[in-house]
Amino acid sequence: MCGIVGFVGEGNAKEVVIEGLKRLEYRGYDSAGIALNIDNRIEVRKHVGEIVNLEKLISDEDFDSNIGIGHTRWATHGAPSDINAHPHVNSDSTVAVVHNGIIENFVELREMLQKDYGIVFRSETDSEVIAHLIGIYNKGDLLDAVYKATSKMRGAYAIAAISSDDPDRIVAVRKDAPLVAGIGKGCNFIASDIPALLKYVREVYLIENDETVVLDKNSIVIYDDNRKVVDRDVFHVTWDSDAAEKEGYEHFMLKEIYEQPKGISDTLHRRIDENGEIKLDGIDISKEELEGLSRIYIVACGTAYHAGLVGKTVIEKYAKIPVEVDVASEFRYRDPFVDDRTLFIAISQSGETLDTLAALREAKRKGARVLSIVNVVGSSVARESDDVFYTWAGPEIAVASTKAYTTQLVCLYLLALYMGRQRGIVDDDTLSRVVSELEALPDKIEYILTKEKDIENIARKIYKNNNVFYIGRGLDCAVAYEGSLKLKEISYINSFAIAAGELKHGTIALMEPGTLVISLATQEKLYEKMISNIVEVQARGAFILGISKVNTKEIEKHADEVIYIPHCIDDVVPVLSVIPLQILAYHIARLRGCNIDKPKNLAKSVTVE
Ligand code: AGP
Repeated sequence: MCGIVGFVGEGNAKEVVIEGLKRLEYRGYDSAGIALNIDNRIEVRKHVGEIVNLEKLISDEDFDSNIGIGHTRWATHGAPSDINAHPHVNSDSTVAVVHNGIIENFVELREMLQKDYGIVFRSETDSEVIAHLIGIYNKGDLLDAVYKATSKMRGAYAIAAISSDDPDRIVAVRKDAPLVAGIGKGCNFIASDIPALLKYVREVYLIENDETVVLDKNSIVIYDDNRKVVDRDVFHVTWDSDAAEKEGYEHFMLKEIYEQPKGISDTLHRRIDENGEIKLDGIDISKEELEGLSRIYIVACGTAYHAGLVGKTVIEKYAKIPVEVDVASEFRYRDPFVDDRTLFIAISQSGETLDTLAALREAKRKGARVLSIVNVVGSSVARESDDVFYTWAGPEIAVASTKAYTTQLVCLYLLALYMGRQRGIVDDDTLSRVVSELEALPDKIEYILTKEKDIENIARKIYKNNNVFYIGRGLDCAVAYEGSLKLKEISYINSFAIAAGELKHGTIALMEPGTLVISLATQEKLYEKMISNIVEVQARGAFILGISKVNTKEIEKHADEVIYIPHCIDDVVPVLSVIPLQILAYHIARLRGCNIDKPKNLAKSVTVE
């Protein structure tokens, strides 16, 4: 997500803002910018890429200013570019704004501003409408102008604004996106996150939702949405900057596990319309095109590939189109059968995985239509696809993918339902049932997260195992692969996933007393067969950790430990059953003293063959 920093008072605004932006780099971004009030005119400098590019841009400019705002952008609307970077200004550059979040009604606001005020937009962003809105209401009182502007806006946002007509104040607003105000001496700060301020202050006001804050060099005043002044206790920050970047979590991986409810809500948001129909961000695949497809390929690597395994099942079930799933490094070298009746779906969190990119290029060369499911806006995979369906997981910092996986699954469910509806296969009841199951997922994940301590206690019993088996059937098998990868890549344990029905074809020879077998038994239609497989390995002395739905208790008779997940339909279980496996892998790795966020030999994005 984007980063915001603002400063006003005695000091060098340029230096303070740039330093603050650097402290927010960990959040992930693709461009950065700064706006300063220099002798009562707003100067804006912004640059795509890293903050160091921005620093070079302004290095020889003698920007002596005591008020400014800055921004690191994580692109949502409009690819990463200089012009799309923040801050954005109004037409006569008397107002500058930085924004974190999404303005849902920006299209209608943009049209209104163009039609009624003749505004000429410079960027592709939703954020630019904010600068113009404040600009048209700005009569010298920035607070009043901001109130009027935000009353027209819908969505989730944190903004900070400065104006040359009101040169001594920063006005900022919080609505569903974080904002803190730093209390200085002869100066004050605003930021989207505490780390940006820690070099200068340790006393902050945590701004709450629907609050507006006005800063000048001597005061910070917080107003509620009725413009009434709010009293707020000072929060004294005891964290060091490293801990603050993780918002108090010990590791990014744990923070990102806990961000999954929001990531899924954001990914679902605005993709289910008021009639419960699926909307794919302007992606249109007609009934005729779908009828004309000979096959769909889902191609990816690692965790994204495991999401593809789930995607195959749900697309074939709801859209009745044959789906082949392949790891990208194999696909590109097996001279795959691809033609213009092929839909190629690439899945990639980073959008920069070379194997996936190369496979995509191979499919395009052979005539396929390419749709990608990507988390990083404007990444190479996104740019080279015919259609992009973004996961809104936000930046994923930990090497071990968690929230990207679950939001990829949600995108695949939406895609399967959309194609099924286009083909007239998914009826109204099925659509509303599955959609309501998807919409219930964030709360159910929140419930599972409350069981972290129980899962940690189980981890304490098993973390010394050096060989671990994950078994499952159907969608449980797909999740077994993902659970196994999570464990192996952060704890360095030799873990192995296999279809439970395959055990008897060789692997069961490895079972010995005490062998740890993590058994996923959530698919109700396969439950009895899974119990049989569990009995098979239990008979050979295995230690069984079961993952099961709360309404299926038979497993307790055979498992040494069971982690229950809330009930849901079999098809969407993977989004829930993976959560305990993520938490388990995290705590096992933690107990083994591993480097959880940056495991040895691994990179967050594998941009080499
Ligand atoms: C997942 O935890 C791993 N970090 C790795 O398998 C990853 O999923 C794979 O490299 C693909 O990355 P991508 O989604 O960015 O393409």
